[in-house]
Amino acid sequence: MTQNPPQADVQFWKNATDHLIRYGGKFEPMVIERAKGSFVYDADGKAILDFTSGQMSSILGHGHPEIAAVVADYAANLDHLFSGMLSRPVVGLATRLAEITPAGLDRTMLLSTGAEANEAAIKMAKLFTGKFEIVSFAQSWHGMTGGAASATYSAGRKGYGPAAVGSFAIPAPNAFRPQFERNGAFDWRAELDYAFDLIDRQSSGNLAAFIAEPILSSGGVLDLPVGYLAALKEKCDARGMLLILDEAQTGIGRTGLMFAFERDGVVPDILTLSKTLGAGLPLAAVMTSVAIEETCHARGFLFYTTHVSDPLPAAVGLKVLEIVTRDGLVERARVAGQRLEAGLNTLKQHFDCVGDVRGRGLLLGMEIVNNRSDKQAAPELGAAITRECMALGLSMNIVQLPGMGGVFRIAPPMTVSDDEIDLGLELMETAIARVA
Ligand SMILES: Cc1ncc(COP(=O)(O)O)c(C=O)c1O
Repeated sequence: MTQNPPQADVQFWKNATDHLIRYGGKFEPMVIERAKGSFVYDADGKAILDFTSGQMSSILGHGHPEIAAVVADYAANLDHLFSGMLSRPVVGLATRLAEITPAGLDRTMLLSTGAEANEAAIKMAKLFTGKFEIVSFAQSWHGMTGGAASATYSAGRKGYGPAAVGSFAIPAPNAFRPQFERNGAFDWRAELDYAFDLIDRQSSGNLAAFIAEPILSSGGVLDLPVGYLAALKEKCDARGMLLILDEAQTGIGRTGLMFAFERDGVVPDILTLSKTLGAGLPLAAVMTSVAIEETCHARGFLFYTTHVSDPLPAAVGLKVLEIVTRDGLVERARVAGQRLEAGLNTLKQHFDCVGDVRGRGLLLGMEIVNNRSDKQAAPELGAAITRECMALGLSMNIVQLPGMGGVFRIAPPMTVSDDEIDLGLELMETAIARVA
């Protein structure tokens, strides 16, 4: 905010204070007027480099002209329909998604948000298995609606009464802060075995599904080690549970593969996509096998919402996939991610408060600690770096979870240029040097 805000801004903040419900954290003290490419612009015209792709969604940058054209066309000609009607973009997107995913993810339902998609996935898992217990990671984030929130453990559990009966959590593997070690190396298998031993003891025999992010983003960018997903799928299969993968942030190329699960050669029973699929516009998908869809349908599966199968967001999703494929953005995310990761590792060499750099492609985490040897959380330092970055014109998001340092989730658009990556790194370096 400027030192002496104009009268219009004084009124803006008064109205904001008087009329908005606050839904988490503080609002940034600036009015954003415009967003284009990798930048957003405040009321003073100051450019702010967006290293979180909005809310981790705008993989094509802001205001992509082809997306804008699709929105304008569909808003004018085919916007929203009775939920029982079908249109070409909906069937087109379902078909295209089946083409770019492995066999076993053949059927799709199109919704609006990540929470909604996970809600539907969890309901399908319950209906298909006839069971109701849902397991997820203790650092998970799957959304704010009932079932999704019951499977979310990184925040927001207190104060709202009981979560869904049969909600369980296991620790997410964290190589920087390993709970289980063998011969000085992180032993995630022992951790996973122990975790499922505890689940088996607590379960009433009704395990329906495990829901997981391939990289836990809000959980501090915890990347599941190679082999972990396959081992998790085995645990699920052995218990008749479905594996739901939530690729809200990792899907559509961001990790350097179209889907993060491809690295592991594991096909989930249900896949949910959201944020990146609409590249910033509200679009989500639930994908599953013919067998699961047929059974659920036969049992009366109901998930009838206002915006299910809306043509406008579906047309956007089709255009997003077309651009990502045509412009080679999956490979670009891999290469750009290497450049960004190398730069973050250089920061780690220069600053002892950079504890760890991790992640894949253009979804990277940088953990801020007191110093690398004590690995103590340093929330004030993390907050000060975030503030300093913003003052310099770089938007960064830090998550602070119990037992960890603050973790910057760094995820610029997949269209980010090398110069923009270098600029972001330079601003981060200046910010850290000023406050560390
Ligand atoms: C992995 C993951 N799943 C689900 C969600 C929820 O998505 P939405 O906020 O669109 O409901 C989020 C949101 O941050 C997320 O990161």
